[in-house]
Amino acid sequence: MLSNLGDFKRTHTCGDLRKEDLNKEVILNGWVQKRRDYGGVIFIDLRDRYGVTQIVINEEHEEARVVGDTCRPEYVVAVLGKVMLRPDGMKNDGLKTGDIEVHISEIRILNTALTPPFMIDDSIEVAEDIRLKYRYLDLRRPELQRNIMLRSSLTRAIREYMWSQDFVDIETPFLTKSTPEGARDYLVPSRVNAGKFYALPQSPQMFKQLLMVGGFDKYYQIVRCFRDEDLRSDRQPEFTQLDIEMSFIDKEDLIKMIEGMIKYVFEKTVNRTLTAPFPTMDYADAIEQYGTDAPDTRFDLHLKTLNELVKDCDFKVFAEATKGGVVKAINAKGAGKSFSRKDIDELTDFVGTLGAKGLAYIRINEDGLQSPLIKFLGDDLTASLIKEMKGEVGDIIFFGAGDEYTVNLYMSKLRLKLGKMLNVIDDKKLSFVWVLNFPLLEYSKEDKRFVAIHHPFTAPLDEDIELLKTAPEKARAKAYDLVLNGSEIGGGSIRIHRSDIQKSMFELMGFTDADLESRFGFFIDALKYGTPPHGGIAFGIDRIAAIITNSTSIRDVIAFPKTQKAIDLMCEAPSFVDKKQLMELSISTDIKE
Ligand code: AMO
Ligand code: AMP
Repeated sequence: MLSNLGDFKRTHTCGDLRKEDLNKEVILNGWVQKRRDYGGVIFIDLRDRYGVTQIVINEEHEEARVVGDTCRPEYVVAVLGKVMLRPDGMKNDGLKTGDIEVHISEIRILNTALTPPFMIDDSIEVAEDIRLKYRYLDLRRPELQRNIMLRSSLTRAIREYMWSQDFVDIETPFLTKSTPEGARDYLVPSRVNAGKFYALPQSPQMFKQLLMVGGFDKYYQIVRCFRDEDLRSDRQPEFTQLDIEMSFIDKEDLIKMIEGMIKYVFEKTVNRTLTAPFPTMDYADAIEQYGTDAPDTRFDLHLKTLNELVKDCDFKVFAEATKGGVVKAINAKGAGKSFSRKDIDELTDFVGTLGAKGLAYIRINEDGLQSPLIKFLGDDLTASLIKEMKGEVGDIIFFGAGDEYTVNLYMSKLRLKLGKMLNVIDDKKLSFVWVLNFPLLEYSKEDKRFVAIHHPFTAPLDEDIELLKTAPEKARAKAYDLVLNGSEIGGGSIRIHRSDIQKSMFELMGFTDADLESRFGFFIDALKYGTPPHGGIAFGIDRIAAIITNSTSIRDVIAFPKTQKAIDLMCEAPSFVDKKQLMELSISTDIKE
């Protein structure tokens, strides 16, 4: 019963027709969302990416009824019919086409479909594994269609703006050499150069700087980057950056240009008017008050370090922590009214999974304090802590003690959790903040050397250059991150454009001469040929798309994403390859075929 499309090409989409189209003869093409048979009259909801239109096959069209009767969900059909007003009481305000229906005289089945493993409907609850395995069906769901389309309008708006500002769109290689961006590289073996490997780029960092040497003073690219790192809801092994680099600018110029771009893009894609300039925050303040360099500034609860107050107290856990570590607290305003003992136990378990050894608290009740701490702290210190944390009746103050990294990690996550539980996060808000004055380097105990916080091409603040010789860990960077609602959406820096400084930076990071020469020799050489001062930034397109679509994971804005284990469940990549292929690549392996 299958037909060819022939002359049954659509005159309209399934989202087009309105009252104004009454009595028009139309042809629609689409998928069968639902078929209902009401004693002789068949109703079909016909769907495409533009919408759903109700199709009616009345009794007088016997041939169409026979065909219509065989239609099953996800069959692809073409129908010919007339636009009619729906009878009173049958209108559907939830549908753009809800005033009309198409009474058809002919229907052609263009293709059949197996029964899908899940209904193509947003209201269904399906395990993500199944959705990813049948991603092409998942993509038919209105939610994913909307996400992918919003993402498309996002990249379109970006291109419009970059074009209007005279930026040149330039592609850079995928088969390249490793750039030190912090994650592991994905390697690609070379067949013609046996034993050698390309690295897929973690970002086009060195190429975009070389484009500045090449005279393309305003570069951008929407580009895939590859990083073999531990994945999370906002990290994929391949993800997309809006990559930007400019010459003859300073940090302020770049920030201004980016704010213009972000304003334009949010206006165009989600019709939101933003106020610039965006607020700025020092890295050190972000860590102190939020415990993270990606602060969610939609709500106010702040962390506070209490080392000074507790360093000599009788509670060993606190006193010990102040020696080399920290004691930090957060006042969960008003939590006393709604938090049960069980809630506090659950929060303790939650921070426990992030490395906390406990979660001390003081609960300020109408009739006094409740806390496992008072017996250790004594009344005076307890009162001082409460005062410091601006505690009032109805509040619960939570404390974390330990090494700085761990305490900041779990207290920052606790802050977010408290924000949600206390219902103080406004979902509608778009809170941008530039985080500035990052440290340039940090000392890695594991590698016993300094590593770059951003990457080794980032310039130190002019006033901190001398520190590189005396106290490198104190030097701050000309780096900036743009954070939106607690998500790091972009980061960049003004670069080192002098080869001697770049070389000493690499040396500071412990690269030997030979290593330096083989990995970055070409780059340091290039800087010797008249390199303009320059700087840039890169944005995570997936993260921005996730925020504007209200998605909890970037997987929901990527057409074909991978799982947390970096697996494509649909095409089952990665997979084993033939021994022959490996031999051609001069790779030996013990893995069986
Ligand atoms: P950075 O490493 O900060 O900077 O990356 C820039 C932005 O890319 C996004 N991002 C990711 N998104 C999804 N999955 C990932 N695994 C992932 N990793 C990063 C983030 C981040 O802010 N070359 C520099 C930029 C520069 O200095 O100009 C760079 O790549 O939103
Ligand atoms: P304990 O004496 O171990 O019962 O601890 C007293 C209180 O301090 C309990 O509420 C613990 O949850 C809390 N606590 C213990 N260790 C820490 C820590 N490292 N940081 C924060 N609170 C802690």
